[in-house]
Amino acid sequence: MPQFIIIHQQVAPYVAHIQLNRPKELNALNLELMGELRDALKQLDADDQVRAIVLSGNEKAFAAGADIKQMAGKTAIDMYNIDQFSTWDTIKKIKKPIIAAVSGFALGGGCELTMLCDMIVASETARFGQPEIKLGVIPGAGGTQRLTRAVGKALAMEMVLTGRFITAREAHQAGLINRIVPTELFLAEAIKLASEVASMSPIAIKMAKEAVLKAFDSTLDEGLQFERKNFYLLFASEDQKEGMQAFMEKRAPEFKGH
Ligand code: CAA
Repeated sequence: MPQFIIIHQQVAPYVAHIQLNRPKELNALNLELMGELRDALKQLDADDQVRAIVLSGNEKAFAAGADIKQMAGKTAIDMYNIDQFSTWDTIKKIKKPIIAAVSGFALGGGCELTMLCDMIVASETARFGQPEIKLGVIPGAGGTQRLTRAVGKALAMEMVLTGRFITAREAHQAGLINRIVPTELFLAEAIKLASEVASMSPIAIKMAKEAVLKAFDSTLDEGLQFERKNFYLLFASEDQKEGMQAFMEKRAPEFKGH
């Protein structure tokens, strides 16, 4: 049984929800929590009854970053041997879409974890930040890279160099998040968005996610070739036949995931 996360199966049809659950420490991401999260995501990724995943904290904090107390006394060689970011590399490979439901603090590794997700639904009280600079370090789980790609150089540089937290409104204006909702609705709205995604063909969803993410580390031409191959490949699926047939018959499709 995981100690630091709670897994809720079928919070909506084909939607699972993982809740980070270290509330006293504002969901600080210790190694154990991250290991549990990785294992849960791998398990849900392999589960046919799951097509989209929601990841949340609680109203006060999504996560206030990597666990500073666990890291404080480490040497560079300890950090190298612990290799904490290999967990993040595994999470990056999850094929199903992950939607972050964020309220309160999403800081440091917490902000980086939201950016490792595919979409972000935030409450009005959400605060995003990369305050590592105030600890004498820099973001280590993708903050300098994913944040810059998401919000551009000016804001990313300011956040990384000053540690300033941005509001949900600023995050929305900058393109970091998908939508802002009233605080009491942040989880429900994320589940609603996940449900909408989960009603599509699960095989197309995975290939679509893969193709969009390809844009981050390929040239335009490589990305276009990759997209085209996935597009063609989907014509091998029954879901493509069903989706197009249903359109022509003016009815809702029934996707099966093969
Ligand atoms: N690691 C460990 N413990 C943390 C933590 C963290 N990142 N963030 C909060 N906590 C703990 C606090 O130590 C405190 O514990 P105690 O009650 O035992 O003292 C508890 O959570 C509640 O926190 P606060 O009392 O500080 O709550 P607050 O409302 O006054 O302040 C906050 C909230 C502004 C988020 C503040 O807690 C804070 O600044 N946290 C640290 C944020 C941070 O620097 N994150 C980056 C971490 S480094 C990183 O993430 C590296 C990377 O790239 C992977």
